Amino acid sequence: MKFNALQTVLALLAQLVVLTHARATINQQILSLKEANSTLIQYPTQITQNIVPKAIHSHNDYWRDVPLLTALSLGVASVEADVWLVNGTLFVGHEVQALTKDRTFDSLYVQPILQVLQVTNHRSPFTVNQTGANGVFDMDGGLPLQLLIDMKTDGPSTLPFVVKALQPLREKGFLTTFANGTLTVNQVTAVGTGNTPLDGVKALEPRDVFFDAPLTQLNDPSLNTTFDSTISPLASTDWESAIGWSGIGSISESQLGNLTQFIADAHALGIKARFWDTPEWPIFARNAIWQVLADNGADWLNADDLEAASSF
Ligand SMILES: *[C@@H]1O[C@H](CO)[C@@H](O)[C@H](O)[C@H]1NC(C)=O
Ligand SMILES: *[C@@H]1O[C@H](CO)[C@@H](O)[C@H](O)[C@H]1NC(C)=O
Ligand SMILES: *[C@@H]1O[C@H](CO)[C@@H](O)[C@H](O)[C@H]1NC(C)=O
Ligand SMILES: *[C@@H]1O[C@H](CO)[C@@H](O)[C@H](O)[C@H]1NC(C)=O
Ligand SMILES: *[C@@H]1O[C@H](CO)[C@@H](O)[C@H](O)[C@H]1NC(C)=O
Ligand SMILES: *[C@@H]1O[C@H](CO)[C@@H](O)[C@H](O)[C@H]1NC(C)=O
Repeated sequence: MKFNALQTVLALLAQLVVLTHARATINQQILSLKEANSTLIQYPTQITQNIVPKAIHSHNDYWRDVPLLTALSLGVASVEADVWLVNGTLFVGHEVQALTKDRTFDSLYVQPILQVLQVTNHRSPFTVNQTGANGVFDMDGGLPLQLLIDMKTDGPSTLPFVVKALQPLREKGFLTTFANGTLTVNQVTAVGTGNTPLDGVKALEPRDVFFDAPLTQLNDPSLNTTFDSTISPLASTDWESAIGWSGIGSISESQLGNLTQFIADAHALGIKARFWDTPEWPIFARNAIWQVLADNGADWLNADDLEAASSF
């Protein structure tokens, strides 16, 4: 008995030595591969390597030090740019006093998105049989990036400039498009919000700028619109006025009833639901609201604190 126990301990020790040795050998190999900048540990679409895409909307994304890329680095699959039309150019910022000549819709969004997509869609002898393009996320090439464009200046005059500004993405075939009765989901889905004119969006042919529909009015006859995903892949509403729960204490039955009704209305039309202006603080209240949203099928978490949302 005693002898057997000793034998077992010795056998375990021997195994540990082998494992430790194996781990050291592997770590050594990893180090040499890295030191030699070996091509074995490099691959072309590394730009978003290991980033898990998440259904988070980066509210006021342009406020971040580095718009778009910070969001992508956290796996955020929806970003938002506030655009102002001045002298024929779209500038990005929350208020006019925040605008500068360098921070344009083209320089902060269109060109960086194009660059990421050029990396994830690089051509090589291995891609010759590939049909269709990859999206921004290496881990889920089929997932589109949602680009919300909040038109701050007059809608009917701004929309044509937004359509024009998206041309570099359009000509590469990267934009989700509704044409000839068919909706084709591509790598970037552009959705107008703010002053975006519904009639202007409906008149686009082909249509590759869509309309952020009013989530609480999807079946409101006064809007003269049969909403569906060919007009609005997304419908949004202000949390405060639509639901009103602060996240502290329990959500009431009628608030929960409203919430599930709005989400069900959207889903019945093939539209995704988003609530904005959800409280950011206290943190426990913010998290309680995120939890209720996730539990009840809201499609996007609207977040200012992307790190918190991405680790939620
Ligand atoms: C590693 O190699 C790649 C090309 O294979 C090159 O682009 C990169 O600059 C190299 N990095 C370093 C640190 O040498
Ligand atoms: C718009 O154009 C006018 C006339 O050329 C010029 O005076 C003005 O500074 C421009 N505004 C901006 C924001 O560039
Ligand atoms: C592409 O398809 C052809 C025809 O099926 C095949 O012979 C070839 O090996 C494929 N190339 C790659 C890189 O998969
Ligand atoms: C839509 O149809 C028109 C006319 O038949 C054609 O020229 C155009 O290429 C089509 N567009 C798409 C995106 O299929
Ligand atoms: C809906 O149509 C009616 C009658 O044509 C019109 O008076 C009204 O302004 C339209 N509403 C919207 C939101 O376009
Ligand atoms: C919430 O639901 C109640 C009925 O339970 C309804 O009277 C109320 O109008 C709804 N609120 C909103 C914002 O639609």
